[in-house]
Amino acid sequence: MATRNLNIEANGDDCLEDYNYVFKPDLLKDKVAFITGGGSGIGFRITEIFMRHGCKTAIASRKIERVKEAADKLTAATGVECFPLQMDVRNPAEVDQTVKNIVSHFGKLDILVNNAAGNFLCPAESLSANAFKTVMEIDTNGTFNVTKSVFDNYFKENGGSVVNITATLGYKGTVMQTHAGCAKAAIDTMTKHLAAEWGQYGVRINGIAPGPIGGTVGMAKLGGKSDKAEMMKKSIPLQRWGQKTEIADSVLYLVSPAASYVTGTVLVADGGSWLTSFNDPTMMHMLMKSSM
Ligand code: NAP
Ligand code: COA
Repeated sequence: MATRNLNIEANGDDCLEDYNYVFKPDLLKDKVAFITGGGSGIGFRITEIFMRHGCKTAIASRKIERVKEAADKLTAATGVECFPLQMDVRNPAEVDQTVKNIVSHFGKLDILVNNAAGNFLCPAESLSANAFKTVMEIDTNGTFNVTKSVFDNYFKENGGSVVNITATLGYKGTVMQTHAGCAKAAIDTMTKHLAAEWGQYGVRINGIAPGPIGGTVGMAKLGGKSDKAEMMKKSIPLQRWGQKTEIADSVLYLVSPAASYVTGTVLVADGGSWLTSFNDPTMMHMLMKSSM
């Protein structure tokens, strides 16, 4: 069995110094992809891996300086164009203008990755109505806003592939994650509805549900930096955090011709984590305290 070199993952939002190709290096040649939240974390690595396969990219989020800096790094490392844009996924007019800019800039769009999200650890009893609404609006409404605009502006006429980055939180009702668990579960349901309606237009829609991924903001916010982190890691069947590159490679599979008959499904890439990881309020309270 071929094994993965786990020593090449880069920390922070830097490109890899080395990458072992699983697929052909020209897999996405002449394709164009839009990755929301592509300026940081998992989205940054997805963008990099697409570009390493010849794909031109557009990335967008609220903090335009960070997005521009990321685009410069990505192009320097891969020699492929990355178009940086500013956009809040909660604002449908802003989203629509951004998608129109991308289609007009590249003349096409083949792939959308809905990766932008917001999260924090918070027990439901302390969660305000606005906190719940904020996460729902970024994750669920944001995913709908971007997907609908991409469909209207390009995919309806030309087909395309969508990958939604979700999570396993709702599978067992993870404590302190009511807001994000509900938001991601709604996205998984949206994946099925849109796949059912838009298959006739040549649009495939799938999801990836990562487990705890090392070196990310998401992971840091959910206890990955706490003094209980080692215990958390041991509770995962594969006994380690996932890597951003492993999620990027999973996304690559879903947008590739290898997945041409795959739509309406969610691929869990979590080292088996959700099956065995602890989920009790006392432990999570300890995690939250030692994360702060
Ligand atoms: P991250 O680096 O914080 O990525 C989130 C991105 O979303 C940021 O680039 C952020 O940029 C953007 N964003 C947030 N709110 C936005 C808004 N309103 N409009 C536009 N963009 C917005 O975190 P990450 O850990 O890599 O997470 C990436 C994805 O993986 C998320 O969908 C997350 O739920 C999922 N995930 C992560 C893990 C993990 O272990 N890290 C586990 C399961 C699932 P701005 O701040 O510039 O807007
Ligand atoms: N615990 C409980 N409530 C919180 C919170 C926390 N850690 N952080 C924010 N909130 C609440 C706020 O108090 C506010 O509610 P209120 O008006 O009742 O006080 C509400 O959430 C909105 O907060 P605000 O800071 O105005 O939202 P924002 O739109 O500026 O930011 C977040 C959105 C909160 C999700 C912010 O963390 C973010 O931008 N995250 C992006 C990065 C990220 O989370 N990455 C991980 C991806 S999984």
